[in-house]
Amino acid sequence: MKQIEPHGGVLVCREVTGAARAETSEKAKKLKSIVLTEREVCDLEMIATGAMSPLQGFMIERDYKACLEYKRLADGLPWTIPIVKSLSRDEKEIVAKEKEITLQDSSGRALAILQVESLFVHDKAEHAQKIYGTTDEAHPGVKQINQMGDFFLGGRITLFARPAHQDYLDHRFDPEKTRAYFREKGWKRIVAFQTRNPIHRAHEYLTKCALETVDGLLIHPLMGETKSDDVPARVRWDCYTTLVDRYYPKDKVLLGVFPASMRYAGPREAVWHAICRKNYGCTHFIVGRDHAGCNRPDGKSYYGSYDAQLIFDEFSPSEIGIEIYKFEHSFYDRKSGGIVSYRTAPPDADPFVVSGTKLRELLRAGEIPPPEITRPEVAKILIDAMRENEKVNQ
Ligand code: ADX
Repeated sequence: MKQIEPHGGVLVCREVTGAARAETSEKAKKLKSIVLTEREVCDLEMIATGAMSPLQGFMIERDYKACLEYKRLADGLPWTIPIVKSLSRDEKEIVAKEKEITLQDSSGRALAILQVESLFVHDKAEHAQKIYGTTDEAHPGVKQINQMGDFFLGGRITLFARPAHQDYLDHRFDPEKTRAYFREKGWKRIVAFQTRNPIHRAHEYLTKCALETVDGLLIHPLMGETKSDDVPARVRWDCYTTLVDRYYPKDKVLLGVFPASMRYAGPREAVWHAICRKNYGCTHFIVGRDHAGCNRPDGKSYYGSYDAQLIFDEFSPSEIGIEIYKFEHSFYDRKSGGIVSYRTAPPDADPFVVSGTKLRELLRAGEIPPPEITRPEVAKILIDAMRENEKVNQ
């Protein structure tokens, strides 16, 4: 069965196994090493498993510049998010004398070797402005950039040890695994759903509308680093498994971990999310309202509600490869008694909308929000998690 081509045509594998693993791991012990941040560890694993095909390592200067300027790699392939390893000045001094360097996690465990190909200056203001359209420190992505080092190190990586994961082990499917699963199931058309939130009724509506038109649905929550006021991954995971178990068909849905960290780059991140899901073998990708967005301190989003859909017009559909299912703002309509979007709502629709702030207030008070907004089972998990959190912080 022919499946969708990975981005750039070939599913990258930068992981060594068997004798080569032992050999590479021995070699790594003799090299100088540097430590990766949590986000860089996520990126490393995704590069190694092909989730970020065609990247074979952290970005070299040419690709980084092209990504910032043209939303492409140096060879012209669409790529909207920089995948970078930053260095402090001291680390840069060490690395500058080496041809290869060992990459460790924060506990000092060696994971990979990087071939030193490119060392360049990190212009933080330029990085923030080009990727986020702002240098406002209140933007979580800009904050991340400002915490990075002043230099970047680019080069191919060879992974010999996976990051030490403790959680969701039965749902960590590499792109090769999801592709094999889809083949086994005979699914030709698969839609992927990205989320960093518990799945509420509007989210559920999007996924089910999409599933009406394809063979399978990959619910692919992002489980890497998120900002501190997002619902923690561990709590969200309970929501996802409960929801999938009770409210989705058994034979048409796969729940898998998307091991990336959030960037909050809105439109640019939507393109990147879509490309990664193509690498996982999906043919369709859902982009709704304010995808990967975040709010300013005044509560307004940094991006336009549909910027993350409009950005796809800057590329030809064939170079993106995966088809985008664009959804308008969806909500419960009291008039028609169901979830609708602004495309499908009757003229006298009566939207029943509970703001994120109000929803959090209800949950904090231990009140189950209306079932039109969220499934009671999901609400209960969120209420329990909030109570637990309060106990810990007392
Ligand atoms: S995101 O950061 O992962 O995009 P979230 O988990 O809230 O955040 O959204 C997941 C997907 O659902 C995104 O494509 C987003 O645009 C879409 N979405 C969320 N809520 C709505 C809604 N009410 N109407 C339409 N699309 C929505």
